[in-house]
Amino acid sequence: MFGAGSRGPDAVVSNDPFYARRKSLFFDEDPVQRAAARARWRDELVALVSQGRHEQADREFGRVLGLPEYRFHGVPKDDRPQEQFAADGLVSKVAGRFGGREEVYPPEPSELRYLTWAKGALNLGPGDVVVDVGSGTGKAIDFFGMFTDAKRVYGIEIEPDFAAFANRHAAELGLHHVRTLNTDILTGCLPEDVTAVYFFEPFGSTEGNDAVGTFANNLVEVGEHRPLKVAVKSANLAERLQESGVFSLRDEMSFPYVINGEVKASSWKLFTSDLAAGP
Ligand SMILES: C[S@@+](CC[C@H](N)C(=O)[O-])C[C@H]1O[C@@H](n2cnc3c(N)ncnc32)[C@H](O)[C@@H]1O
Repeated sequence: MFGAGSRGPDAVVSNDPFYARRKSLFFDEDPVQRAAARARWRDELVALVSQGRHEQADREFGRVLGLPEYRFHGVPKDDRPQEQFAADGLVSKVAGRFGGREEVYPPEPSELRYLTWAKGALNLGPGDVVVDVGSGTGKAIDFFGMFTDAKRVYGIEIEPDFAAFANRHAAELGLHHVRTLNTDILTGCLPEDVTAVYFFEPFGSTEGNDAVGTFANNLVEVGEHRPLKVAVKSANLAERLQESGVFSLRDEMSFPYVINGEVKASSWKLFTSDLAAGP
């Protein structure tokens, strides 16, 4: 599949059913045509999501972009195999049993229904610099890079193989304003010019290690001084931001899903630091 190595657009096999679409979205030399193709495809994907056909939208998005297929959804963290993707030999080295970091969650990519909600809620314009915290193989950053006007899109990813894949892949697609930093967000800082953060539960706190609290303090420190928009799927982080006195809840959305026959909900919240709220 395209994206696995560094074969580039012209080496894509001609019987790949997604080739024509991929070419129009990323490799049409006319930027106006390219932008029009992206707008058309964005509308098609949004229509699928709003009709409840989000799984189809996710499949199509992954295949057109050449993202590796995520496997083993629903397997408890401790039982997961080292290779969680169906291709590309992508391997966790830091997480769980492999590297011993129990608070590092599996690299499950976001669903398009989350991303389309976050795109609207974060309202990303040309002045925005957006960061996906724990960006995995890059699905969310590629989405923001393609479908928003954000001037820069950063991923921050602790697993070296995932970060390397995401950088190679974004470069192959010509998404030059999309970049993944291979670092631990808990020991590093957010990029200085960040205006928006996307947080799809990348880690949890474990005994003696309040990872979520450490990151909440990070956000509060930035939000105290500058406008910051944060889209969060994490009850723990949402609670910390709510209690901080620096961030206010502006929007929320719940997405149902079924696991082991039980209906659960994936709850997202949008916070802004009060500085971002305007008069
Ligand atoms: C649930 S996945 C999210 C993937 C991506 N954000 C998306 O929405 O498609 C979480 C990712 O966070 C990464 N991660 C966990 N702890 C981290 C940390 N302290 N610093 C950077 N990345 C981390 C994991 O390796 C994993 O790839």
